[in-house]
Amino acid sequence: MENKINEIRNNALAAIEKADDLKSLEAVKNEFLSRNSEFNNLKKGMKDLTPEQKPVIGALLNKISIELSKLIEEKNEIFYKKELNERLLKEKIDITLDGKYIPIGHVHPLTQTINEITTIFNHLGFSLVEPKYSPEVEVEKFNFDLLNVPKEHPARDVQDTFYCENGDNVVLRSQTSNSQARQMLNSKPPIKVISPGRVYRNESVSARKNNLFHQIEGLYVDKNVTMAHLKGVLNEFTRLYFGQSRPTRFRSSFFPFTEPSVEIDVQCIMCQGEGCPVCSHTGWLEILGAGMVDPNVLRDVGIDPNVYSGFAFGMGVERLTMLKYAIDDIRLFFNDDVRFLKQF
Ligand code: DAH
Repeated sequence: MENKINEIRNNALAAIEKADDLKSLEAVKNEFLSRNSEFNNLKKGMKDLTPEQKPVIGALLNKISIELSKLIEEKNEIFYKKELNERLLKEKIDITLDGKYIPIGHVHPLTQTINEITTIFNHLGFSLVEPKYSPEVEVEKFNFDLLNVPKEHPARDVQDTFYCENGDNVVLRSQTSNSQARQMLNSKPPIKVISPGRVYRNESVSARKNNLFHQIEGLYVDKNVTMAHLKGVLNEFTRLYFGQSRPTRFRSSFFPFTEPSVEIDVQCIMCQGEGCPVCSHTGWLEILGAGMVDPNVLRDVGIDPNVYSGFAFGMGVERLTMLKYAIDDIRLFFNDDVRFLKQF
């Protein structure tokens, strides 16, 4: 029995010696120390020994069992550290390398302006017109007739407005004011909406003019709406859009759909009113047209002008963006030149 034990011990020592990584060491452990190992079987055979032999063999088996476990454990520790170090070395990340450049797109400056102005008017209680009331392809009725624009008005001329070839008085809208009539025909006061969008004019393209541009229209119709409301809302808009309170000027003007009509100037943001090339040395910049909705317009859409009144306004998005960022050529908005666009 003792010989057998020693033989197993020698075999185990040799196998431990030979094991050269965690895996082979695990195999050795299984072979010599597991439940089904030869060594363990010897332990089970102890019951057949004489009472004198039992303590001697028992002690020997225990001693060897502890010895082998300890040797395997020690080697295990060494291999574990070695393999861990190798893995860490292999998986090392060089954090000094530059990251991958992921280009991030920009929101187009005109879209930014539209969003900004829309937010300002939302805070002043205006909601966005439903898109179906603000079509870009329009009939003359909404672009002109219902806005009190006379039949012979020069704006209706093909020199100024794009007509579609089908001859049904279909135009590319020349102003977002078309949404006014559609909104009023389809809803009852109080009406308080803004309507941003594209407009088209048959214009020769220059640094100041493009035949496609954007406007934001506003309309407020209710009982007892007065010019004071118009002034209050539009002064507040200028303050919020240009970032600080600056002088504004309401000049009397003419639009067919408003009476009285005004054009609003803001003190030049470049020269603070001193006079410079941007404001043509006047000290003022025109930023929008507005007025009290003409009673004829209200009447034509079925709103009683003796009960209701309202104000309307319209502004050019390109112009407002150019003024805010000192951009001197409208064509820059439409050229898709990323060197320009990525500045915003
Ligand atoms: N539609 C005008 C334009 O294109 C702008 C405008 C002026 C709109 C006065 C209005 C307004 O609603 O009341 O020049």
